[in-house]
Amino acid sequence: MQERLRDNRKTEEIRAKVRETHLKVSDFIYPLFIEEGENIKKEIASMPGIFRYSLDRINEELDEVMELGIKSVILFGIPLHKDAEGTESWNPDGIIQKAITQIKKDYPALQVIADVCFCEYTDHGHCGVLCNHDVDNDLTLNNLRKQVLAQAKAGVDMVAPSGMMDFAVREIRDELDKNGFEHIPIMGYSVKYCSSYYGPFRDAADSAPSFGDRRTYQMDFANRNEAIKEAQADVDEGAAILMVKPALSYLDIIRDLKNNFDLPIAAYNVSGEYSMIKAAGKNGWIDEQKVMMETLLSIKRAGADIIITYFAKEASKILNN
Ligand code: PBG
Ligand code: ZN
Repeated sequence: MQERLRDNRKTEEIRAKVRETHLKVSDFIYPLFIEEGENIKKEIASMPGIFRYSLDRINEELDEVMELGIKSVILFGIPLHKDAEGTESWNPDGIIQKAITQIKKDYPALQVIADVCFCEYTDHGHCGVLCNHDVDNDLTLNNLRKQVLAQAKAGVDMVAPSGMMDFAVREIRDELDKNGFEHIPIMGYSVKYCSSYYGPFRDAADSAPSFGDRRTYQMDFANRNEAIKEAQADVDEGAAILMVKPALSYLDIIRDLKNNFDLPIAAYNVSGEYSMIKAAGKNGWIDEQKVMMETLLSIKRAGADIIITYFAKEASKILNN
């Protein structure tokens, strides 16, 4: 007999019992932009509520993160000096290395994840070493080893290579293992599309390419089978977590990975996805808080176990209530 489906929607008590998906504060990873310098707290114009901090002020943000019960942050560094290879990214006194050490000292319970890439550190804004106006894969792998080793020595808890270089996870795993950092896991930006939704981030991190685009390394957003191949490669190379990025135009890909792999799946709810909701909210065109929660839940329902999101603090406030 056909059941009366509305019976289970009658009251909030019933709805809560039959609800299939739940968001938790512990699902979130909160991104932080850390700029070299002093006394900096600068709001990013296209990302209201998100700031760049210098290290001497980052605790203002982290105290709040801890109070809300957020367990993980992912760090992006903005160095003072950029060059062709992004050498600041592996300087032991570079901004991210200093940030890792300071944050782990002041907040030992916080999981500190480092993004591993070069676009914030190169003067051309591409994600690796240039050769004939394109990023050279294998030259970049050598520098990736240097960058993660510097982060590991600074005390990072997890590393997340975001440059879409082939064999990045294999090389990083090898470098960590042979230096006694077997315990540091890798979250692969396994399926990262060449997306215009990254626009506001590139303002935030000063990482826009000075020429061309990232189509020779990031994925073509028309491709779905290729996502499985990219994820499989990261599994074979030793990733602990697989990520899909961006999230919202790629909910099908999140579900594909969830159905095909046993590893935890992360989704990056990227800057442009944040800014669109903020802009519409500011205009009074949508109920910003409700759309935010519906959006985050949809990412979880699609199959993500972990959500990297600029909404982490705001959503946590609601979940804690
Ligand atoms: C750097 C990097 C980017 C993002 C995370 N790491 C930008 C890019 O690939 O250009 C995007 C994050 C966001 O838009 O929120 N490789
Ligand atoms: Zn990059």
